[in-house]
Amino acid sequence: MERFIEEGNRYLVQNYARYPVSFVKGEGVYLYDTEGKRYIDMLAGIAVNTLGYNHPLLTEALCNQIRNIMHVSNLFYIQPQIDVAKILVNNSCLDRVFFCNSGAEANETAIKLVRKYFYDKGKPEKFEIVTFTGGFHGRTIGSLTATAQPKYHEGFKPLLQGIKYAEFNNVDSLRSAINKNTAAVMFEFIQGEGGINPIREDFLAEIERISKAYDLLIVVDEVQTGIGRTGKLFAYQHYDICPDIVTLAKGLGGGIPIGAVLAREEIAEAFTPGTHGSTFGGNYVSTTAAKIVLNEILKDGFLEEVEDKGSFLMNELKKIGLNPRGKGLMIGCPLPEEVKAGDVAKKALEEGLVIGTAGGNTLRFVPPLIIEKEQILEAVKILEKVVV
Ligand SMILES: Cc1ncc(COP(=O)(O)O)c(C=O)c1O
Repeated sequence: MERFIEEGNRYLVQNYARYPVSFVKGEGVYLYDTEGKRYIDMLAGIAVNTLGYNHPLLTEALCNQIRNIMHVSNLFYIQPQIDVAKILVNNSCLDRVFFCNSGAEANETAIKLVRKYFYDKGKPEKFEIVTFTGGFHGRTIGSLTATAQPKYHEGFKPLLQGIKYAEFNNVDSLRSAINKNTAAVMFEFIQGEGGINPIREDFLAEIERISKAYDLLIVVDEVQTGIGRTGKLFAYQHYDICPDIVTLAKGLGGGIPIGAVLAREEIAEAFTPGTHGSTFGGNYVSTTAAKIVLNEILKDGFLEEVEDKGSFLMNELKKIGLNPRGKGLMIGCPLPEEVKAGDVAKKALEEGLVIGTAGGNTLRFVPPLIIEKEQILEAVKILEKVVV
């Protein structure tokens, strides 16, 4: 194992603070490292491995697909891509889908789509997008600018023009960010990286009111909250709202890189041939994975179980003295200042539990959605040892 660490430190760009562990095998919700040590995984590759590791249907479908054909480009019709688009459209309030490869790219696409939509409507002056403090939308210049957290901006200025910030869950701040140039508001229903901060209902109601009054688009970043994570296919489905644009990535491919943007018909029309694209976006491999993931989580009862297991996890976390928040299997526990979330995650790893951290000194739980209640108990038992 030391060789991995030494050579990783020697050859890779050092932009990640890696744990000194390398996993070589996964099965269900368990991971195994180079020494054969077993870990229970409550992180799922940061809310990615929806069906856990080595899910028989996903593995088999991918192996078959890879043997057959992997990539042809979007100059041709790709059957699983069309199947996935159909599933997403039939299970949402939106009409069309564009595929890309990551969350940042999906959000970048959304920013371009907003601009082009108003440009086509003869209102090029409407180009400003309002985003919110504590949000996270990715690392490319556009999505980084949309991420209203100064710590991520340091050293990367000048940022993209036309993004304005307001305070999350603060109605007055939202109102004062809107002007005649505003084209859209973009937000997460539960801020993931920001610390698992749910949106307040009165704030959401004001977003809806303002977007109607000022002809604004509602862009929802469901990169982390989407694909069953909160117990519904999309987090917006917990509320009485239909966004104009929804971005997806993370859990959609169950571990294979894929991003997607869903939009209403009238908005999607702004992208005509040549206006936007992606070489790899929605290729055979990634959309084969997405099709299996979606079919599995849309099976009868699956999403209800996610909600139920989420409540169960919340309860168990309360029992050990934590203060959880979130929805479904997207749960955060803020810790008191004197207990560093990073230190807890490190200790947990030593004890065979993989958990994440998020902003605001928060522990983050985003396990594979296939986790079972006994496994939740197993994870909380380890956590109890290291957190108190
Ligand atoms: C809500 C949200 N949007 C966008 C992103 C960026 O996704 P990616 O890392 O795939 O570019 C993330 C990643 O954490 C995210 O949580």
